[in-house]
This record gives sequence, C-alpha cells and structure tokens, in this order.
Amino acid sequence: MPNPQVPPTGVPVPGPVLVLNGPNLNLLGLREPEVYGTDTLAGIELLCRRTAAAHGLYADCRQSNHEGVLIDAVHEARTGHRGIVINPAGYSHTSVALRDALAAVELPVVEVHLSNIHRREEFRHHSFVSAVADTVICGAGTHGYALALTHLARILEENR
Ligand code: DQA
Repeated sequence: MPNPQVPPTGVPVPGPVLVLNGPNLNLLGLREPEVYGTDTLAGIELLCRRTAAAHGLYADCRQSNHEGVLIDAVHEARTGHRGIVINPAGYSHTSVALRDALAAVELPVVEVHLSNIHRREEFRHHSFVSAVADTVICGAGTHGYALALTHLARILEENR
C-alpha cells in the first residue's frame, strides 16, 4: 500500500491541507480516555493522511501546545495550503488571536472536537474559532477527523 504521507511521484499533487491539533492533544490515548477515547495522536494523523489521500489530497499534520506556534502554522498555510482542519483544543475557548489568524488567511476551515463540547462544562460551550469556521464537527470522536477531511475535500472541489 502506498505511504499516504508521501505524495506519489509523477502525479500532480495540489497543495496540501493543514491538519492542526492544539494543546494536550499529543497526550491522546493517555489523557482522559473516557472523554477522548484511546486512539493516539499518531493514529489520528494516520487516519487523516489516509482519508486525505482517498480524496487526492495530502494532509500536513502538526500539533503544538503553544498558541503562537499554532498561529504561525495558520499564517504559513495562507500561501502553502488549500484548507485547514483544526482542533484548537483548549484554545477554542480562549484564543481571540487564533480566531483572528484563521479569519486572516481566508482558507476553508473545518473545526473538529473529539468530544461534544456542548454536553460538557459550560466554559466549553463557546468556541471563538466556530465563527470563522466553515464547518464544525464535534462529538464524533476520532471519526470526526475523517468527516472533516472528507468535507474539506468537498469544499475544495466545489470551489474549483
Ligand atoms: C477538545 C475539547 C476542548 O474543550 C478541550 O479543551 C480539548 C479537546 C475535543 O477535541 O473534544 O482539549 O477540543
């Protein structure tokens, strides 16, 4: 099976899509498995690359615990990527700066949360990112990332 991380040679590959995971998601698998499940970040990133590849896309997967690093990745995507799938994690509920970065780059954005944030503590009910996202998927667990990439592929196809 071809490695979905490596675009096959000889085939024109459109710009990658950015899959950005925020703080503490590096601990997936260990972290509150009753809320977030037992899949690791590496497993989720593999799912993302495979789903992207099934739609002729290449997923550039990154994770950071630092707000500024996430913002820099979003800025970089402005010229290097065709769209963004983002789980802003805790910064969803706090970061106007991340929201502003996503608004500035004018790329299609799909926001993902593993858990259903609306069924949890009240402070998680509001996400600053949702207002600038084209689509929000929450509560579908790991599968939410596959849904997000499938939907992003559809948006890109429609905008072509
Ligand atoms: C999360 C939900 C957030 O409230 C939380 O801070 C996270 C993960 C999710 O994927 O369900 O870190 O974004």
